[in-house]
Amino acid sequence: MARTVVISGGGTGIGFAVAETFASEGDQVVLLGRRQSKLAEAAEKILGAAYFSADLTDPYATRAAVDFISQQYGAVDVIVHSAGGNGVLETPVEHADPLEAIAHDWSLNFRLNTLTAVLLTEGLKEHLVDGAGRVLFITSIAAFRGSGRVPYGAAKAALHPYAVRLAQELGPRRITVNAVAPGLIDETPFFGQPMTEERLKLRVEETATGRVGVPSDVAKTLRFLASEDASHITAQVIQVNGGVASSR
Ligand SMILES: NC(=O)c1ccc[n+]([C@@H]2O[C@H](COP(=O)([O-])OP(=O)(O)OC[C@H]3O[C@@H](n4cnc5c(N)ncnc54)[C@H](OP(=O)(O)O)[C@@H]3O)[C@@H](O)[C@H]2O)c1
Repeated sequence: MARTVVISGGGTGIGFAVAETFASEGDQVVLLGRRQSKLAEAAEKILGAAYFSADLTDPYATRAAVDFISQQYGAVDVIVHSAGGNGVLETPVEHADPLEAIAHDWSLNFRLNTLTAVLLTEGLKEHLVDGAGRVLFITSIAAFRGSGRVPYGAAKAALHPYAVRLAQELGPRRITVNAVAPGLIDETPFFGQPMTEERLKLRVEETATGRVGVPSDVAKTLRFLASEDASHITAQVIQVNGGVASSR
């Protein structure tokens, strides 16, 4: 039977690959994101996909998305949280004091990566299907490392204890909650512009598999975690990074 699969950030990158993967199995996918044009473009490529434009850092916009989904589909089988980003691509803001810049950076990353997932989950959790519901977060290898952009990694890391707590809360309803933490995933708008050859080479050298990830690596892992076969896997963080050491 077709499941209803809600995908935040479903208009682009990993979220779009996730939407394609679930839709190819006959599921009804509902794409969420801020840019209506990107969502419409994505929905045109995925037969039967629905979409709703909302800034998921805004409680009222999130409520509107939740109302749309519950009115259109009733119950939700799977939520995939792909909305997020590293914050630096947002409109630059002038700061009078360096501390103001730090406050801006940390709050922006928290809002983009943590709040988006928490608000949507809290709004939709009562609509999740008992016995088979799935909540799936996309976090990052950055959640384990002190390298790179720390506010981003910290904001992703915040979802890990949230997932564990939610797994305990929803466990009695036989709903599972897991996070997938990817390493570098190529071919998405995440970094704004393509990585230099040199940087890409360094990232490949860190892996045991000799390649960077692609969106379908994440999508296929999520497909498994959303399946009946994964019904005893909950409160876990699954790393999809080709064997890169997380502690570096
Ligand atoms: N690519 C990587 O190497 C990598 C590695 C590890 C983890 N990740 C994570 O994977 C997820 C997907 O990233 P990606 O690589 O596929 O990049 P992406 O294409 O830029 O995906 C981010 C998506 O989130 C949506 N979004 C951002 N802010 C939002 C908001 N406030 N409300 C609603 N939607 C919002 C964006 O759409 P709008 O701008 O239209 O809202 C976009 O569709 C992100 O959470 C990212 O942190 C990526």
